[in-house]
Amino acid sequence: MDTTSTTKPVQSENAVAADVARAGRTYLSVLDLSPETLEACLVLAGRLKRERRLGPDAPTARALAGRTLALLFDKPSLRTRTGFEIAMQELGGHVSCPPSADALGTREPLADVARTLERWVSVAAIRTFEHTRLREFVEATTRLRIVNALTNEEHPCQALADCLTVQERCGAVRGRTLAYVGDGNNVATSLTHAAMMLGLNLRLASPEKFALPEETLDAARRVARHGAQLVQVHDPVEAVRGADAVYADVWTSMGQEADQTHRRAAFQGYRVTSALMAEANDDAVFMHCLPAHRGEEVDANVLEGPRSVVFDQAENRLHTQKALLLMMLGGVEPDHDNV
Ligand code: CP
Repeated sequence: MDTTSTTKPVQSENAVAADVARAGRTYLSVLDLSPETLEACLVLAGRLKRERRLGPDAPTARALAGRTLALLFDKPSLRTRTGFEIAMQELGGHVSCPPSADALGTREPLADVARTLERWVSVAAIRTFEHTRLREFVEATTRLRIVNALTNEEHPCQALADCLTVQERCGAVRGRTLAYVGDGNNVATSLTHAAMMLGLNLRLASPEKFALPEETLDAARRVARHGAQLVQVHDPVEAVRGADAVYADVWTSMGQEADQTHRRAAFQGYRVTSALMAEANDDAVFMHCLPAHRGEEVDANVLEGPRSVVFDQAENRLHTQKALLLMMLGGVEPDHDNV
């Protein structure tokens, strides 16, 4: 039987590789990408978002056939984890989810987990506590691609979706101004890296004790392009005045629950309210990586209001994580040819 007219051709590896810029073996930090690769990732994510309606007829629907992503999560997740699961499914690949107690616990050294997974899968997305745990994975393997799905220090997958959302809602990233109000945490760090590389001006407003360290600001300024300005202040109004986007995150991140009472006291005055939003540009958007605590870091009427783009950010987690996977795996042999 001649099936050539009915069988959909598998997207060839070369075809994917030809029009997808290359990312390196690791994405532990936004700083692992060159500015050009970061820009290319956002362009690709936009294309994947438009093509998603094509479903199985999308040009990338089989792009990662034969590839498996291992999801190793030490902490809860909705957007990052499910985003990666759907991304792999829509790119024709597979996902494996070993229980965190087995993969990230005390049963065996992380290096042994990494060397085992390397024989089976192309890429691991890991959410854990200290950033150094990701480095153990990287140092133990030579082929395994490793993505930071959030550590105490950085959240680089979130920053991709944030920048795509600014681009969509503010018409561009370069030359716009974003005000981040709250904790100088992992989300703030990755956002700072991406903003500087893309030419997005950033004003951070945090209580002194919770500000981003100077070395983080210095590292971001070293990769700044297109005249991007980075300032850190303590007054939220000073940060927000005239901004195109206002960003809030939780005051108590995962793992800091014991410090919650102290943090709530320290962050009084840093809630994003309607009054604070009124200091921004008239068409400024409100951003939050979610999950959000209404009445704590943001008032419910701001989060639910017409200027809120938080679910655009959530949606864009999928498109940007798809782009990242394609850029990291586009030129890698399928897992069964990989050993
Ligand atoms: N913003 C974010 O990382 O969401 P999850 O914790 O649900 O993955």
